[in-house]
Amino acid sequence: MSRSKGWELVCIGCGTAAETELPDSTCRKCGDLLEIRVTKDIDTGSLFDGKGPGIWRFRQALPFAPDVEPVSLEEGGTPLVRTGRFAARVGLPNLYAKNDGQNPTGSFKDRGMSVAVTRAKTLGAKALICASTGNTAASLAAYAAKADMEAVVVVPKAGVASGKLGQAFAYGARVFGIQGNFDRALATVFDLVRKDDRFYLMNSVNPFRIEGQKVTAFEIYEQLGGVPDYVVLPVGNAGNISAIWKGFKEIRSLGIADTVPRMIGVQAEGAAPLAAVVSSGTPFTPLKEPHTIASAIRIGNPVSWKKALKAIEESGGNAIVVNDDEIIEAKGRLAQEEGLLVEAASAAPFAALVRLKLPRDARVVCIATGNGLKDLAEHGGEQRIETAGDSNFIANSIGLKRRSMRQHRETD
Ligand code: F0G
Repeated sequence: MSRSKGWELVCIGCGTAAETELPDSTCRKCGDLLEIRVTKDIDTGSLFDGKGPGIWRFRQALPFAPDVEPVSLEEGGTPLVRTGRFAARVGLPNLYAKNDGQNPTGSFKDRGMSVAVTRAKTLGAKALICASTGNTAASLAAYAAKADMEAVVVVPKAGVASGKLGQAFAYGARVFGIQGNFDRALATVFDLVRKDDRFYLMNSVNPFRIEGQKVTAFEIYEQLGGVPDYVVLPVGNAGNISAIWKGFKEIRSLGIADTVPRMIGVQAEGAAPLAAVVSSGTPFTPLKEPHTIASAIRIGNPVSWKKALKAIEESGGNAIVVNDDEIIEAKGRLAQEEGLLVEAASAAPFAALVRLKLPRDARVVCIATGNGLKDLAEHGGEQRIETAGDSNFIANSIGLKRRSMRQHRETD
């Protein structure tokens, strides 16, 4: 493999270097997952001074030659918001939310999609395909539109949030439904890409997706002014935890920081095969019928589980489980105490804080992976419109004390 290219593809299982990715993004020799090693020299002094839209500010650390034109919707660069009332209640004054719901299509997927679609374009791929619980589908559809490429998304026929499906249709993707869950949809997509080379795989086994998502770590480091003690995030197919860990490890190996955070993966009870391995040490066993209200992470056979396990073990982290009631409660509190509307899957890490009992002085970053606007019907508490006859009715219904007009003027 030529180092001159500035990066190489290496199998995480047998260490074999690959000349280019196979259509299914796995190792030609042993079938395990591939990852990218960036081998070019990175100027640490200017890494954070890069120009460009969103994640492309860090293109020094991305696997592309300088002349490659990014397919970008200005993804990344999302706010790191310090929480207040929520933080106080869980006893973590230094609790931050990385609000990735503010990405162009409303989830963190856009970071990786920008990079992987850019790669697909340079390869001359014909049709981009993914299996999805919704967000990947929406993101792929948007980036394919921007790149003027065909997008094909395969989703479980039931249970995908209507907002996410609506996005996929609006951006012009072909949408196929599978009788069964996400794992079946992904198996179908693998089957297709292995036998038909017109399709290029865009799930997070595609190592270019991981490169885009690793930038989240660079941004957190910059926004926090250092490395957090813990990064807590939802785990579905297990790509994002692997990606963010990769980003922090790169910061450390570049000598920018000397510590790394502990990575805490959170799964929903009923869809927690990774947490089962971590808590009991038993071999990884896929679940046939995963269930949880958090549809985005309703996954029984996370394809990147080995990478995620490595992230947890190497970082001294953990994988834990929260139940649906805890997720719903955290989602409601985030909205009502912080003005932060996330989808159910994204509330899982916040729910986990109650169980985790982290040290009070710890700097903790939860990744708010997806925007709650995509699924407003989703267990958002009571949605009752109160009939208001007139203005007096409203005035009398809310139990606030009146202030005189004079007070208004003095305090406004
Ligand atoms: N949070 C949200 C909002 C997601 O949509 C997903 C995954 C995850 C967390 C988990 O991330 O898979 O990298 O561990 N959604 C995928 C999809 C499966 O198809 O949109 P992961």
